[in-house]
Amino acid sequence: MERIPVAIIAATGSVGQRFVQLLDGHPWFEVVALTGSDGRVGQSYAETHWVLTDPMPEYARNLPVVPSTPEAANAPIVFSALPSKYATEIEANFARAGVGVFTNAGAYRRDPTVPILVPEVNAEQLALLPTQRKEKGWPGFIITNPNCTSMGMTVALKALDDAFGVRRAFSVSLQAISGAGYPGVASLDILDNVIPFIDGEEEKVEWEPRKMIGKVVDGTLQLANFQLSVHTNRVAVSDGHTVCLSVEFDREPSPAEAVEVLADYQAPESARDLPFTPRPVIFVHPDQDRPQPRLDRMTGKGMTTVVGRVRPDPLFHLKMVVLSHNTIRGAAGGSIYNAEVCVREGLIK
Ligand SMILES: NC(=O)c1ccc[n+]([C@@H]2O[C@H](COP(=O)([O-])OP(=O)(O)OC[C@H]3O[C@@H](n4cnc5c(N)ncnc54)[C@H](OP(=O)(O)O)[C@@H]3O)[C@@H](O)[C@H]2O)c1
Repeated sequence: MERIPVAIIAATGSVGQRFVQLLDGHPWFEVVALTGSDGRVGQSYAETHWVLTDPMPEYARNLPVVPSTPEAANAPIVFSALPSKYATEIEANFARAGVGVFTNAGAYRRDPTVPILVPEVNAEQLALLPTQRKEKGWPGFIITNPNCTSMGMTVALKALDDAFGVRRAFSVSLQAISGAGYPGVASLDILDNVIPFIDGEEEKVEWEPRKMIGKVVDGTLQLANFQLSVHTNRVAVSDGHTVCLSVEFDREPSPAEAVEVLADYQAPESARDLPFTPRPVIFVHPDQDRPQPRLDRMTGKGMTTVVGRVRPDPLFHLKMVVLSHNTIRGAAGGSIYNAEVCVREGLIK
């Protein structure tokens, strides 16, 4: 098939660079434009301070940095890595111009007409798009990713909720430095240290999984009715967010039953067999000291949620450890997977 032109908005930052890397050679999408802030416009993308370990792809070296406008991007799909404070206005401009926007910014996550899409969890929430288009008057649309810490734990909670009914959960995160963007946290703050505060993060992680696991009834989203208590911490890990999770259920499973449900969990039909479908969706690591970010974050090319240490919890029913790659599954790779589902569903004109 002829590849669909796509643009990366805010292509110069930590998540923008992941998009540039992951879209290199994508079978369906061809990157035709890279945007940056006003100060970067007109420069060659090759001048970007590249922070990934693989070299900058050749196609990107040859593109100029252009403004973040629909005219300059000139593509029916854009992938946005904008900071939230700029995303509200810029992403709406694209949707108003008929573009499908797949964003990592938090600006629209609380909007009841905007899906926080994780295809293996809630592909059916694409049913919100007609309501979004009608209410906003946009011929295009906006679909968001979750916050990167919500990602892995929501995949695990969804599998467990379907089987046993989640009543409430408690979690403690150990979040990688790359989650704060580039240059992110100062090295003198994070080396030999744990920072027990990430501004606004706990509120996001206590709410977003309830939206993602919620149901769309007559075009309106109803939040899942379980409760979450969340602690978030920054640790000296480069990539990969770890979440220690305790869960209470409506029907208490044994650890072995929970492991079977997690390992067997499948994406719905519409989200299977796409280029970025996680293979497997969840990997349950059998070793007692896993998952570990350095060893396990690239499972399934960084798209798989890795779970381990599923065991009884004396206060809740079960506890476990969940790992997800924050800039791949929790950001750029997640958006690309979302766009693939929308192309398959015929939502891109
Ligand atoms: N890092 C993660 O793990 C992660 C995960 C999920 C979601 N997110 C979200 O993804 C977004 C990007 O995060 P990040 O970690 O990539 O941050 P980052 O490294 O700070 O990059 C943000 C980039 O945005 C660019 N920018 C600023 N204003 C712009 C404009 N008007 N037009 C175009 N580009 C503009 C800046 O580029 P210049 O070089 O042009 O100044 C900067 O490089 C944020 O909303 C963040 O919350 C991040």
